[in-house]
Amino acid sequence: MITGILREDCATLAQELADRLRPLNGRTVLITGASGFLGSYFLDLLASYNARLAESPIRLVAADNFKIGLPSRIEHLVGRTDVAFLRQDVSKPFPEDLRPDYIIHLAGIASPSFYRTWPLETIAVNVDGTRNVLELARRNCRSMLSFSSSEIYGDPDPAHIPTGEAYRGNVSSTGPRACYDESKRLNETLCTAYNTLYSLPVKVIRPFNVYGPGQRIDDGRIIPDLMRAAMAGGPLVLFSDGRATRSFCYAADFVHASMLLLMSDADGEVFNVGNDFEISIAQVAGIVAELAATPALPVEHRLSADLNYLVDNPNRRCPDLGKLRHRMGWAPRFGLAAGLVEGLARTLAHYREEAASGRISAA
Ligand SMILES: NC(=O)c1ccc[n+]([C@@H]2O[C@H](COP(=O)([O-])OP(=O)(O)OC[C@H]3O[C@@H](n4cnc5c(N)ncnc54)[C@H](O)[C@@H]3O)[C@@H](O)[C@H]2O)c1
Repeated sequence: MITGILREDCATLAQELADRLRPLNGRTVLITGASGFLGSYFLDLLASYNARLAESPIRLVAADNFKIGLPSRIEHLVGRTDVAFLRQDVSKPFPEDLRPDYIIHLAGIASPSFYRTWPLETIAVNVDGTRNVLELARRNCRSMLSFSSSEIYGDPDPAHIPTGEAYRGNVSSTGPRACYDESKRLNETLCTAYNTLYSLPVKVIRPFNVYGPGQRIDDGRIIPDLMRAAMAGGPLVLFSDGRATRSFCYAADFVHASMLLLMSDADGEVFNVGNDFEISIAQVAGIVAELAATPALPVEHRLSADLNYLVDNPNRRCPDLGKLRHRMGWAPRFGLAAGLVEGLARTLAHYREEAASGRISAA
C-alpha cells in the first residue's frame, strides 16, 4: 500500500532528483530487500519518476525473499510494465539472464528484535548475500550501493561523537548484537575487496537510524514502537532510562542522499548518511507523546522481558556528515528539532492512514 504521505514524499523527491536520475532512463535497476522499509521507498521513488518524468522508463527489478518485508507494501505496483518482481534469497544464485545496470543492495535483517532471533540468517545475508550481489554486479553494473550500518561503530568513544568515517569502532565480536555488527563490517570489507580487485563501482553507505513512512509498525525499532503505542492511546513505554541518544534521519532525506551517491563517481568509498541532530530517546518519546494527543500521552519506563535488550546498546549515536555534505552538496531537509518534529508528524499521519484503511491495527 502507498499512503498519501509516501506518494507526496516520492513525487517531491522525483522532481528534485529528475536531472540526476536521467542516466537511469531505459536502464535496469535492481533493488534487493525491495519489500522492506527502505527498499520499498526507493522503489516508489523510481516508479514515481517513471510515471511522470522519465523519457524512457527505468526497468525496475524488485527482489526480496519476502520473509520480513511485507509484499502488501508494494502490491500497488503489481501490473506495471516497468516493475518486475523477483522472489530471491540474495545469497543464492541470481537468474543467468539478469544483468542490472544499477544495484541498490538493501537486503538484510535490520531490526535488533529480528536479528537477535535469526543470527545465522543475519550473517548469511550480510556476507554470502553481499558477495553474491557483488558477483552479479561484475556482469555489467555501472554503479552499486551497498548498505552497511552505523552499528559498525559499536558504542563509540565519546571523543568520537559525532562519528566520522575514519573511526574504527568499539564493537563486541561475541555479544548479542555481534551477528549484525560484525557481518556488516565484513560486508564493507567485501565491497572494498571487489573495488580493489575488479574496479567494481560500489559505494558503501552507513545509515544512521532512518525512520519514516513505510517502516513496518511491528518492526521492533523505537520509532514504530512509539507510533504503535501512540495510536493505541498510550502509554509510550521505554525499556530503558531514555538517556541514550540517537540521530534520527527521515527516510526522504536518506533516500535523497543515497541516490546522489548512486549517481556519483565515489567508487570504493564509504559515507555516513543520516541526520546530525542528536537527541535522547526520552526526548523523542516526549515529542511523539505530544504529537499524538492533547494533553500529551504518558511516557513510562519498564524493564524488557528480553534480557539482551540493552546489552551492547550504544550510548550515543551521531554522525559526522562533513564528507557527505562537502562531496554531494547535500543537507537533511528534516534536520534539527523542527525537522524531526515534522518528520515524526508525517510518519504518524502515514500510520494513521494505514490504520484507517484497515491495513494495520491501531489497538
Ligand atoms: N533503516 C535503518 O535505519 C537502517 C540502519 C542501518 C542499516 N540499515 C540497512 O539498510 C538495509 C535496509 O534496511 P530496512 O530498514 O529497509 O530493513 P527491512 O528489514 O525493512 O528490509 C530488509 C528487507 O530485506 C529482505 N531480506 C532479508 N534477508 C533477505 C535475503 N536473504 N534475501 C532477500 N531478501 C532478504 C527482507 O525480507 C526485507 O524486505 C538493511 O541492509 C539494513 O541493515 C538500515
